[in-house]
Amino acid sequence: MIGVFDSGIGGVTVLNELVKTLPKEHFIYYSDSLNNPYGDKTKEDVIRLSLNVTKFLIDKGCRIIVIACNTASCSAREYLRGKFPNIKFIVTEPAIKPVYDYNKDANTLVLATKRTLESDNLKELVNKYHTKNTYLCSMEGLADLIEEGNDYKISLLLNEELGKYKNLNIDSVVLGCTHYPLIKEKIRNFFPNAKFYDGSSGVAKQTKRVFKKLNLKSNNKLEIDFYDSSDSDVKKNVFFKHMEVEK
Ligand code: DGL
Repeated sequence: MIGVFDSGIGGVTVLNELVKTLPKEHFIYYSDSLNNPYGDKTKEDVIRLSLNVTKFLIDKGCRIIVIACNTASCSAREYLRGKFPNIKFIVTEPAIKPVYDYNKDANTLVLATKRTLESDNLKELVNKYHTKNTYLCSMEGLADLIEEGNDYKISLLLNEELGKYKNLNIDSVVLGCTHYPLIKEKIRNFFPNAKFYDGSSGVAKQTKRVFKKLNLKSNNKLEIDFYDSSDSDVKKNVFFKHMEVEK
């Protein structure tokens, strides 16, 4: 069993890649929508919440846990790896390195939550893989609006935040929050010629490598169990609506 978690339903964008890469496994997805957003919280709070979810997934029998949330990955990975040395944690981080590998001259725009942008992990990534220009934009409130499906407010927020970058020749956009690929086309309207990056396919490849290395027995069929801390059927329906593969 492979555990996957996010502060909400955004991690579905990672799960979709996982299912393409490991199409016959049993996934347990946990959406902590009672406590989202994580992006506006302190590091300590994100660690505490991630710990609760991790314990739940370990109790369900997961030996691999995919943190399908950039915010939780950047804030809680060291803590979780230290506390649970027998569990393999796969983390999602803003795809800044892939931009650098592809084009060191890029004008890069990194979109992420406030907590992700303030994390040491993000600072290290930017120091190491800075392209010609690397702009960091905190999209406060956006993950929440995506959870709500509030298209009107999403457009207002995008206009306000992304409008500032329209004349900077942005050619590479990093979607550094797992919710953002769900509105990729809306973001693309601001940067129609840019190349878009997110961490999900890298996460899926890494999960497959770890699954093989641990010699885990295949489930031989796809199963997806969905849990949500708010027990909301609405979340469940939205989540499965975004799943690209039939359960
Ligand atoms: N989906 C999460 C991420 O990748 C965070 C959203 C939030 O709760 O703020 O960063």
